[in-house]
Amino acid sequence: MVLELSGAVILAAGKGKRMKTETPKVLNRICGKYMVDHVLEAVSRLTSHIVLVIGYKSDTVKNELGDNFKYAYQLEQKGTGHAVLQALPHLPSSGMVLITCGDTPLLSAASLETLIKESRKGDAGLLTAEVPNPGGYGRVIRGENKQITAIVEEAQADNEVKKIREINTGTYCINVELLKKLLPQITPDQETGEYYLTDIVHLMVEQGYYIVPCRLDDYRESLGVNNLKQLAEVENIMRKNMLSQLMLSGVKVLDPDSTYIDAGVSVGSGTVIYPNTVIEGASSLGENCNIGPSVHLKEVKAGPGVEIRFTVAEETEIGEKSVIGPFVYLRPGTRLGTGVKIGDFVEVKNSNLENYTKVPHLSYVGDADIGEGVNFGAGSIVVNYDGRKKHRTTVQEGAFIGCNSNLIAPLVIGRGAYVAAGSTLNQDVPENALAIARSPQETKPGLAKRFIKK
Ligand code: UD1
Ligand code: MG
Repeated sequence: MVLELSGAVILAAGKGKRMKTETPKVLNRICGKYMVDHVLEAVSRLTSHIVLVIGYKSDTVKNELGDNFKYAYQLEQKGTGHAVLQALPHLPSSGMVLITCGDTPLLSAASLETLIKESRKGDAGLLTAEVPNPGGYGRVIRGENKQITAIVEEAQADNEVKKIREINTGTYCINVELLKKLLPQITPDQETGEYYLTDIVHLMVEQGYYIVPCRLDDYRESLGVNNLKQLAEVENIMRKNMLSQLMLSGVKVLDPDSTYIDAGVSVGSGTVIYPNTVIEGASSLGENCNIGPSVHLKEVKAGPGVEIRFTVAEETEIGEKSVIGPFVYLRPGTRLGTGVKIGDFVEVKNSNLENYTKVPHLSYVGDADIGEGVNFGAGSIVVNYDGRKKHRTTVQEGAFIGCNSNLIAPLVIGRGAYVAAGSTLNQDVPENALAIARSPQETKPGLAKRFIKK
């Protein structure tokens, strides 16, 4: 926590017209989290007094982000200067405040901290960046001794100004009292009618205040999201950064270009991620797992030593050393114990499978509780749905389910029972019993010739 910072304002009221979608801009997801959540995470490291300015679909934004922050409402989006004005009543009465935008999610806490420290050398600090493509950003105008004299927005820039590659990141650190004095002096832009926060810069210069420039070491942190193309670019950078961190922590990622892992997913060291892997939500993988190729996991918790190939899994827990795939679909509510084997071509839904149970080929297991060491033969199916209701099936420890069996729920197969291949069962089978439910075979010698053309 940087003690000299007394609060922060995050601007998040805009619709994001250039996104061309109805979702409030800051609620677009980047690496699985809301865009503004990344900003909140960085800013929370520096102060706990955060004022979020919201406006467009403010109820939705507030519902999604929760009550950990103060909210200021900007009912009409009349520009960034007007937005900060709405935050003033919620800010502390003295000290330095940070102002930043909800659409620059790559800015790191470390860079913000540098800005805050640098700002102490003057009356305010401005975070700038030297970018290869400055189009669309406000340009930083420097005068004598390289001092900042103004910010000129793209729309107002002439050709000379457009050549400037130093841009305004939209992040400022300023004394609250000075902010309170200057904000009401901003006048609306003649063409757009908007109050630009950037005008505060030339107001400061006019009135003899000094703005400390603070340039980012890595310009990519400054990239703003104003359209879906920029969203993809920013997400790509963030994704690669996160993958680099995973690799440095001992996770082998064979093809970072085809690996998508959400922020907050934990992966144990020694784990190998093969190409075409997507891991989303609150997922975690233990140490020494082999994941992929072609795996999509969402809200999956897997223990150490798990192997998953060509699989889709959602809201599932997978015990240590289990082997999943190829071609498996694990649906919500699936819980697998240690050393379980699932697949190929198997679907499991809302079921518990205890340690060392095997469902190796072409099966469906739905709404079932399967004990330890059970073997499901190829093609065996749990018939959980009667057209109106779902029913549960229990298969106790050590039972053997022969190939191509249908277990019609509700049903209990007792411990150590044996279901003969091809049986369709709708009555419980007691412990250690043999159940056989199929029509007896008839064999007619020599009759094949009636059907086989020679
Ligand atoms: C702004 C800056 C520009 C800077 C760029 C950095 C201004 C006038 N321009 O431009 O100098 O280079 O950010 O990314 O400040 N917002 C509100 N209320 C409003 C308008 C905007 O809360 O009435 C919020 C938006 O939700 C957004 C942020 O302020 O999170 C920035 O607004 P945006 O429209 O994206 O400004 P830029 O054109 O990117
Ligand atoms: Mg922007």
